[in-house]
Amino acid sequence: MSQTAQYDPNYQYQHIQVKPITGRIGAEIEGVKLSATLDQATVHEINHALVKYKAIFFKNQQHLTDDEQEGFAALLGKPLNHPTVPVKSGTAHVLELDSRGGRADTWHTDISFIEDYPKASILRSIVAPAAGGDTVWANTTAAYNDLPAELKVLADSLRAVHSNDYDYASKVTTSPRIDAEKYRALFNSTEYETEHPLVRVHPESGEKTLLLGHFFKRFVGYNSQDSRRLFDLFQDYAVHLENIVRWRWSVGDVAIWDNRATQHRAINDYGDELRVVRRVTIAGDIPFGVDGRPSVSLKKVVKQDISNFTFENGQILEKAS
Ligand SMILES: [Fe+2]
Repeated sequence: MSQTAQYDPNYQYQHIQVKPITGRIGAEIEGVKLSATLDQATVHEINHALVKYKAIFFKNQQHLTDDEQEGFAALLGKPLNHPTVPVKSGTAHVLELDSRGGRADTWHTDISFIEDYPKASILRSIVAPAAGGDTVWANTTAAYNDLPAELKVLADSLRAVHSNDYDYASKVTTSPRIDAEKYRALFNSTEYETEHPLVRVHPESGEKTLLLGHFFKRFVGYNSQDSRRLFDLFQDYAVHLENIVRWRWSVGDVAIWDNRATQHRAINDYGDELRVVRRVTIAGDIPFGVDGRPSVSLKKVVKQDISNFTFENGQILEKAS
């Protein structure tokens, strides 16, 4: 919370060039070669731009290796591995998302089913389709600000349960390379349920932001039907076109998003073309609601040990042991 006092939205950048893409979210950052040895002043400004613009983009970062991506990530925080999806083989923290292995094409906040879900994700394009396969990000702070006053009061009081018991199977059955049941078993190898405030106070900017997306399960105190209606009501504000930035990927592009103030999804419009991106995620802290109540973990049930699995070329591999 101490960082809130230090955040100045009007700070003038001296080490990076920042070019906003839309009026509400997204900026392209120029004048930076990302690396594990970037100086502290530049890293500080990148973090500031991340908080201010929510999704920031760097072109022409083809020099990055998996190692360098991990090293750069460590300058922004502590790398966090996905709790149930294995890292790319041979890496410590890289999650490879290969279109042959599934497509994250519904709105979500990364790993929001755990208490201290990630601060940020850093995504690097490895193979881009000739056309299509863009990613879109939505500004969930602008979504909160757009709410009528009475809905803000309601939103401020709601608590929501997020879970990884989510139907991924429907997303992967089109892929011949992956066994949908196997993927689902892996994704749910530990079952998580976490209660979050619907409105989170951002730990760096102090802004209020809506926390929803596809890991949402229900509102505390509401039945599933009413939960769904309320979800739709608030979720619609998040994904207004006014709150969205869309990025057209070229190989070597890097996107970083503030996972505490955004939702995102990929656009599944590129048929059988290959699309590969690699992600390193930065650990977050436990959210607090407007009333100061923290998120709480409700359930963490380990059903299967997955330490023996890795991911490669969109396939789940089991190491010989
Ligand atoms: Fe994601």
